[in-house]
Amino acid sequence: MGKRINRPSNRPARPILAKVASLGDRGDGIARPIDAPEGKADRLYYLPGALPGETVQLRPGVRKGDGWEADLLSIETPSPDRVAPPCPQAEHCGGCDLQHLAPTAIARWKRDKVVRALAHRGIQESDIAEGAARAVLTTPPGTRRRLSATLRGRAKRALCGFRERGGHGLVDAPHCLLARPALVALMDALRDTLPKVLAPGAEATALMTETETGVDLRLSLPEMPDLKGREALAALADRMDLARLSLGAEESPGEPISARRAPRLTLGGQAINPPPGPFLQPSLEGEAALTSLVLEALGEPKGKARVADLFCGLGTFALPLRERGFLVTAMDVTPEAIAALNRTTRVQSTVRDLFKTPLAGEELADLVGVVVDPPRAGARAQCEALAGDGPAVVVLVSCAPATFARDVRTLLDGGYRLDWVAPVDQFPWSHHVEVVARLTRLEADIPTKDKVINWLG
Ligand SMILES: C[S@@+](CC[C@H](N)C(=O)[O-])C[C@H]1O[C@@H](n2cnc3c(N)ncnc32)[C@H](O)[C@@H]1O
Repeated sequence: MGKRINRPSNRPARPILAKVASLGDRGDGIARPIDAPEGKADRLYYLPGALPGETVQLRPGVRKGDGWEADLLSIETPSPDRVAPPCPQAEHCGGCDLQHLAPTAIARWKRDKVVRALAHRGIQESDIAEGAARAVLTTPPGTRRRLSATLRGRAKRALCGFRERGGHGLVDAPHCLLARPALVALMDALRDTLPKVLAPGAEATALMTETETGVDLRLSLPEMPDLKGREALAALADRMDLARLSLGAEESPGEPISARRAPRLTLGGQAINPPPGPFLQPSLEGEAALTSLVLEALGEPKGKARVADLFCGLGTFALPLRERGFLVTAMDVTPEAIAALNRTTRVQSTVRDLFKTPLAGEELADLVGVVVDPPRAGARAQCEALAGDGPAVVVLVSCAPATFARDVRTLLDGGYRLDWVAPVDQFPWSHHVEVVARLTRLEADIPTKDKVINWLG
């Protein structure tokens, strides 16, 4: 009998020839081996950087869910959709997943992702009153006005960038193609200043928001800086003409180190002064795309028509709806966002945890429509309440297709019809996609699809 040689565990596995079948939800190629020995032909390999239709050589790694992680060694037959990544860091930086895929193919894939999520809940495209999901509305790169970057201390210049793809390392991103120029410049200045407040090897995060009065920077440092460190940060604020620089952890309102001007945004024609932390749409272009869909869904108000904006944040939709003439009730769990929105005195807004206490029953009675824009977890309890007692129109806005589809299912089961589904891509080159959908109540006294806008208006 031949001698069996055990391969040492640290020796790399042999390369495998494989065919990429599809892209997974996070943008990895999903490959199956070609000519694999019996028992291995069904194996799945998750392969960042590979595209559907490609034949590749891969090296298998550790187990991942129902398959294996793998490294792409070479591409034997490239996809016609493959393009040269515009960023030199694209291969390693986790800030982007799909720079190697042509923009038109990304748009197709993101639309399919929404359609697949709906199908998973038994909702076919033919169930959409418009007949199919709409094409993706894509926002251009270089438009991110809000960005969270990670910093790592070093003796001379800190690193400032994003987590490496599939790992915990940090990729310095000096020429980030996603961010607006003001944020790229600030990231550069942070590399110079941070060694004065961040020990070598220690990490911090910078939440940067470009507002109409300058950049609002919130730094989350592992330790509060001493006097010299504070002076260095004040000098940074001066040099970069920051509107505000505050220190604090993600959940905290932050302690201002420098407040030269109140950061200002305009929503629905109203000036609003955002506090350092709460949610904000990442680009003006994305905000405009989502807002126009929400306005399209609700049409023109008739008389004193009241709508609710649930999970309203700073009032991204509430204020434009008010500008259009609706009376608006707005709710969110973040007190700082609600306080800022209330200072505009344009809408009635309250702090409320809509996961625990959804708007329900009588509270829904005087509404003609509701906008629901929850975090990734979706709005299970709120949609259950709407399924029972919701108004004529529900506009669902989501950044997570799986929970979106679950919530649409709940509303359909509660007697709504799905009028249209519009995917929006405001995270170019990432695997993320957002979606807006309009649902209307299927009841005898509620107008049919074509009449809904007239009924509201
Ligand atoms: C995707 S953001 C949308 C915000 C806003 N509609 C916009 O477009 O700017 C989700 C919002 O849900 C809020 N939120 C998270 N959990 C919540 C909860 N349990 N109850 C109410 N609001 C919540 C967050 O504070 C955040 O403002």
